[in-house]
Amino acid sequence: MLRYWTAGESHGRALWALVDGFPAGVPIETAPIDAELRRRQGGYGRGGRQRIETDAVDIKSGIWQGRTLGSPIALEVVNKDYKLERLSDLERPRPGHGDLAGAVKFLGSIRGVLERASARETAVRVAAGALAKQLLASFGITAFGYVVELGGIAAPPLPGSLDEQRQVRDASELYILNPEFESPIKQLIDECGKQGDTLGGIVEVRVEGLPFGLGTHTQWDRKLDGRLAQAVMAVQAIKGVEIGLGFEAARRRGSQVHDPIHFDEAQRDTPSLGYVRPTNNAGGLEAGMTNGQPLVVRAAKKPISTLRKPLESINLTTKETEAASYERSDICAVPAASVIVENVVAFEVAAALIDKFGGDSLAEMQSRYRSYLDLARAR
Ligand SMILES: Cc1cc2nc3c(=O)[nH]c(=O)nc-3n(C[C@H](O)[C@H](O)[C@H](O)COP(=O)(O)O)c2cc1C
Repeated sequence: MLRYWTAGESHGRALWALVDGFPAGVPIETAPIDAELRRRQGGYGRGGRQRIETDAVDIKSGIWQGRTLGSPIALEVVNKDYKLERLSDLERPRPGHGDLAGAVKFLGSIRGVLERASARETAVRVAAGALAKQLLASFGITAFGYVVELGGIAAPPLPGSLDEQRQVRDASELYILNPEFESPIKQLIDECGKQGDTLGGIVEVRVEGLPFGLGTHTQWDRKLDGRLAQAVMAVQAIKGVEIGLGFEAARRRGSQVHDPIHFDEAQRDTPSLGYVRPTNNAGGLEAGMTNGQPLVVRAAKKPISTLRKPLESINLTTKETEAASYERSDICAVPAASVIVENVVAFEVAAALIDKFGGDSLAEMQSRYRSYLDLARAR
């Protein structure tokens, strides 16, 4: 069973992830993890914090001579902006944050809640996902995330191969796949920032190269759609998760939703085993199992909660109405959310891969994977 926990506060010494259940023998490099950390820090509309931090991972355990040992892997990302001991408490809870609920629940401070609720924690979730992507790469599986809508402006992806789309995304400060929308969306972010307001958006992740049968229909808590929804919903500020057509499926007739099944002998050697679908409205999952098609997950991110022009709140001591507290903040973090969602999805897919082909080592997994494909092709 592959799983991870995180620890650390936003302005504490560091953030940590403890990844347990990773097979032995997987070649691991830190450069691709650092590249994902940099992407998470980037994107148009971020605030001052990202100029202070230059995130890099330090792998503290579980690796020897560039390969995993099969033992727990501890990941550390140091906070350059470490100042927790010097920070004071907030008086006026910020709407859209856990400030009020957490201060009441723990009978304590707002600071004690916001430091852990902060999306700074996602730095190590990204590191754990980027580690998992290196296992997925050994099976030819890729996860690719991008922004499809920001502040209500849709940026429909231009078609292209994965490599072409990656180039387009990496040239975009918004991580979109359609350069035409770059300047209108940036303008919107600038205007919004001037008004002291914030923006949200929608991100999409596509996972390709998946074999049939990751996840299962047999038990609710091991259905892959359910596991993905939990992982993605648990990302700060994500308020909706869709797989394939998602909510749009509810508005159409069955004949316009379900993907017909065809067979193409020429594709027998691909992960689809030759079972081709002219559409992929199911987003690669049927009954909680992968069906040989690309997995498509979308997530809706709400606008940043901390407003430079704050909403009404109360003073927790006096209970008088006052403007909510303000802490240095982003205007828009939708591009960063696409990186986080990409990596948390990759982690869940890796967990499902280990559940299916699990073993103690990469070699064992690969051998089982090959024999499964042979059996499934002969089915
Ligand atoms: C990448 C990313 C960056 C974020 N940056 C900020 C920020 O600068 N200021 C802020 O108020 N909220 C920010 N958030 C959102 C809050 O962390 C989140 O809304 C808050 O913890 C409440 O949790 P909830 O929205 O999941 O209910 C960010 C979220 C993400 C995913």
